[in-house]
Amino acid sequence: MTQAPRYGWLDGRIVDWADACLHVDTQCVLGGLNAYEVVGAFRSRAGDNLYFFRLHEHLQRLRLSAKVMRLAVPYSDEELGAAARRLVAMNGFREDAGVRIVAYFGAGPVFSYRPEEITTGVFMVAKAATAGRRPGGLHVCTSGWQRLPDIAAPPRVKAGANYHNVRLAQIQAKVDGYDDAILTSVAGNVCELPLANVFLVRSGVVVTPDVASGILEGITRQAILDLGREMGITMVERPVDRSELYAADEVFATTTLVGVTPIVSVDRYPVGPGAPGPLTVRLGKALDDAVRNPAHTRWATPVYDAGDVS
Ligand SMILES: Cc1ncc(COP(=O)(O)O)c(C=O)c1O
Repeated sequence: MTQAPRYGWLDGRIVDWADACLHVDTQCVLGGLNAYEVVGAFRSRAGDNLYFFRLHEHLQRLRLSAKVMRLAVPYSDEELGAAARRLVAMNGFREDAGVRIVAYFGAGPVFSYRPEEITTGVFMVAKAATAGRRPGGLHVCTSGWQRLPDIAAPPRVKAGANYHNVRLAQIQAKVDGYDDAILTSVAGNVCELPLANVFLVRSGVVVTPDVASGILEGITRQAILDLGREMGITMVERPVDRSELYAADEVFATTTLVGVTPIVSVDRYPVGPGAPGPLTVRLGKALDDAVRNPAHTRWATPVYDAGDVS
């Protein structure tokens, strides 16, 4: 077990970890009714500071999720950004960390979902980013559990309750001896992993399911598309058939705290030669450089004030 952080942030205040609690009688606890983001704070190459990667985009996505859920977020982006910075600083993180920002539905009448009758709030949890990298790659299956369709519970909405769906797929994959799963849609197209977007490479072209394929519109996914295009690589967003995973030369996953993870087999079919491919490695390195580069001011928000990091 990793050590608990010292502080959390709850409804406008830094609180001791033990006091970072919501009542059991809240819709957040009872039904998982929240919208959330996990923002990475990465240590720069020079070690001068930690920088949030694409904080603005994360807050924009939080606003979209909350809008669809008719969940009022009672803080401005500036207030949320300042709170996230303060929480990381108060916990004294000097290495990579992740901040989970959660807008939640609180207490309301029994059996009512009317937003105007339910309190809302925000809490944040900051933790060291210890998620193990898997440079050797993942062995994944395609899941029998299908990704939620947009007409039922849109995956582009990052709602806590949506994770019941991907959790089923991930647990089943592990029970069956795989590292993780790729979920397909009800129509059979490739969507994403439980906590990551998926890319494949076919004849030098990098392909990822388009935003209408039933995916979370990943911030790392967009960063890879941007970086790949800057590098002159052909990057295509389009529907992807399941069997293309078996035909691909390379497959990889992208997510906030881990970056790029190679996938070396799908349903026990080896991907290419069964080892991480060259474009996967190049794009992974480009992303790693970008998240640790404070000169990318459009993407990097400093956590500590200058001089506060030793
Ligand atoms: C379902 C799902 N897809 C994709 C991702 C990757 O998104 P991002 O790159 O914004 O972290 C996540 C992140 O946790 C996720 O939960």
